[in-house]
Amino acid sequence: MGLPFIGGGKKKEANVKTDVETYTEYEDRLIEYLTSPSTIDIHKADIQITKYHQVICAINYPRVVDPGWLTRLIQMNLDFDLSIHISPYKKTTTIKLLESELKKQKTDLYALEMEGKIVPQSLLQQHQDTMDLLQVIQAGYEKMFDISLYLDAKAYNKDDLDRVSKQIRDTMNSIMIIPKVPAYQMYQGLQSVLPLGADKLEVTQNITSTAVAACFPFAITSLEQHATGILIGFNEYNSIPIIIDPFELSNPNILVLGTSGGGKSYSIKLILMREFMEGVSINVIDPQAEYADLIKTFRGDIIRIAPDSDSVINPFDMMDQTYDEKKLSLLAFFRCLLGELTEPQRAILDETIDRTYEEKGISKDPKTWSREPPLLEDLYNEVLPLTKSQKEIIYVPAMAIVNRLKSYVFGPMRFLNQHTKIDLSNRMISFDIKDAPDIGKGTIMFLLLEYVYTQMKKSKTRKILVIDEAWTVLSAGEQAEYILRLVKTCRKFNLGLIMITQDVEDVLVSRAGRAVLTNTATKLLLKQDTSVLDQIVERFHLNEAERRFLQISTMGRALLIAETMHVPIYISASPDEHVIITTRPDEQIAMEQLQKHEVYRPASSDVEREFDMTKPIHRKSDLTDDQITSLNQRGFEEVRTRNLEGNSELFIIRNETDSTDEHFIMQHLILEEVRKYTESGLLHHTRLPDVTFETQTGKMVAIEVEADVGMKKSLDNMAEKLPIMQKYEDYFFVVGNPALKRDYSSKFGDVLTREEVPPRIASYFRLR
Ligand SMILES: Nc1ncnc2c1ncn2[C@@H]1O[C@H](COP(=O)(O)OP(=O)(O)OP(=O)(O)O)[C@@H](O)[C@H]1O
Ligand SMILES: [Mg+2]
Repeated sequence: MGLPFIGGGKKKEANVKTDVETYTEYEDRLIEYLTSPSTIDIHKADIQITKYHQVICAINYPRVVDPGWLTRLIQMNLDFDLSIHISPYKKTTTIKLLESELKKQKTDLYALEMEGKIVPQSLLQQHQDTMDLLQVIQAGYEKMFDISLYLDAKAYNKDDLDRVSKQIRDTMNSIMIIPKVPAYQMYQGLQSVLPLGADKLEVTQNITSTAVAACFPFAITSLEQHATGILIGFNEYNSIPIIIDPFELSNPNILVLGTSGGGKSYSIKLILMREFMEGVSINVIDPQAEYADLIKTFRGDIIRIAPDSDSVINPFDMMDQTYDEKKLSLLAFFRCLLGELTEPQRAILDETIDRTYEEKGISKDPKTWSREPPLLEDLYNEVLPLTKSQKEIIYVPAMAIVNRLKSYVFGPMRFLNQHTKIDLSNRMISFDIKDAPDIGKGTIMFLLLEYVYTQMKKSKTRKILVIDEAWTVLSAGEQAEYILRLVKTCRKFNLGLIMITQDVEDVLVSRAGRAVLTNTATKLLLKQDTSVLDQIVERFHLNEAERRFLQISTMGRALLIAETMHVPIYISASPDEHVIITTRPDEQIAMEQLQKHEVYRPASSDVEREFDMTKPIHRKSDLTDDQITSLNQRGFEEVRTRNLEGNSELFIIRNETDSTDEHFIMQHLILEEVRKYTESGLLHHTRLPDVTFETQTGKMVAIEVEADVGMKKSLDNMAEKLPIMQKYEDYFFVVGNPALKRDYSSKFGDVLTREEVPPRIASYFRLR
């Protein structure tokens, strides 16, 4: 179809004519002229305006809908527009309409009965629905609306259009909307989709106000992404990556709730790894010793707290607290040890703790706080004489204290009766308390928490403390106060507390739990037991869709709550990450066996198991024909160039960088050479040098490749790179054009030809 206005002649006329009227008319239509397409091609089932469009309308809707039921449509990852037209009915018109509809239905039903036929259930249902509707409308609870729903599928060619349109129709069908492509009405269809407020197709259906409200499509919010965040997971519905930075929220704490085996620890290990890479320090209190693989992979420290271990925390250690603070935490420690303290017990402890410190010269005076602290034994010796007292009010509580202290001075817990010996210098540490005697697990956990917390307070850098499955111990009795203080204050020291628990009910109902909840900006709700679902829904104000999501959620699926935002996500690790964090015994055994031979690589197909598909460069001579075919199908290409020995060789590469293939290959060959000696070799495609690595003696070396033989371009590049290279302790250029070496060695420092690279790299690692 041609355009209404733009005739070349007319335009010219308007430009030259001085007739004011014509000019104004022209000006009025200028916008139309500027924004109109040059052609519109209309066919039976599509319309082309540069792109092809196909308008699909909804001709039938489900009987009952949930809020947000259109979300599935909105979140399709396809090129389309969606328009909903809603227009209200007058109440009187509606009632008349429904009454006449009822009459019609009754007649139909009557006729069927008279003929002795079976009345279909659908007809009865329809009749019932209409009666119900009439009732609520007469009562004023509901109003009636006409609704029409149109989708405009778009693509640059007809094949793609068919594909997009089919996917849209499939999704519509899946939510029980019946789609139809209105033949010979594409122009009207397009007008109905454009934001003009004109429904030219008029494919309507009447619907109640509740159903209209349920059509609001944006029921599922997506998070605003933080520039500095880490990948937490992917939106369940549209796979958009959810990247958040917990440290940017109102507090950096995270709470993970879910049934056993739902993937709580797995999700957190993933977060830990990713935060660690961002420079965050990690500490884990690990009662099951299940973080060991992760810690080992990142060369962290596993600190075992057990009778036969070297690492100890002395409860009397001041831990850089003030005297009053220390006394408060000591009393909390004894609550942990003795259970709830009676008033006389408290009084005795209060006094004897003071005396114990006094004996060592430690008092309220800050100058004395660095003196050697007492041990549990010293306190024991202070309390012991009191058991001999004549007064019941003294000897009874003193006996109770002494009896419990005995196991810490002479019994299974006596390893705590030593001075603190613990090294927290590593950036990733787990405290393994699996082998600590059961009776002392609570007190140890408490001590660890106190110690780690006080140490972490000292720096302002970002750090995370994970407490996995420790809720029951930590929330017990008055000790909960301690965890509360921690949760509330840790934000000030840039410390994020991650608490993982399956005692969902306890967190939801206990006072400590509620306080933790209000001080935790991020919550990860994994699959929940049906028994706690109602409480969860109420506590987190979940809607029906979210409730159902939690109910049917499978491993790795979670509802992420960050501040007030709710997003259903799936948590997925890369194959390399998975290997490090899975605890499934079968997988771990398989990995151990594989690791004996080679680096474990979870393969996605049999062909891929043979070689590393993810490598962007392969030597052709290393590959089988099948592998070459498989690589070719993935966009790899064959390139012949000289290797580092100076011989011509065929490579199969996929070069997605801006550099030439020669440069790309040489860069990778150099990295391969470096990796023979050190894992520290890195490749850069940015302004950084092409390859960097750390030598045996800790020197940082940079290598820049100039593979092109074009002299001028290489020289310009080298001049530009030189200042960056000079920031490294050692650097050299590798050139494809030997003339550069000959003429410019002095100007650019070391300039090597490719053959000189292997011996040069070896020289950094020669044993001395
Ligand atoms: N998102 C996921 N993707 C793949 N595998 C997963 C995922 N989440 C969990 N798994 C698998 O399930 C196993 C058990 O998960 P995890 O140890 O995290 O459970 P948990 O909720 O911490 O259970 P528990 O309460 O018993 O500690 C993991 O070792 C892993 O193999
Ligand atoms: Mg776990």
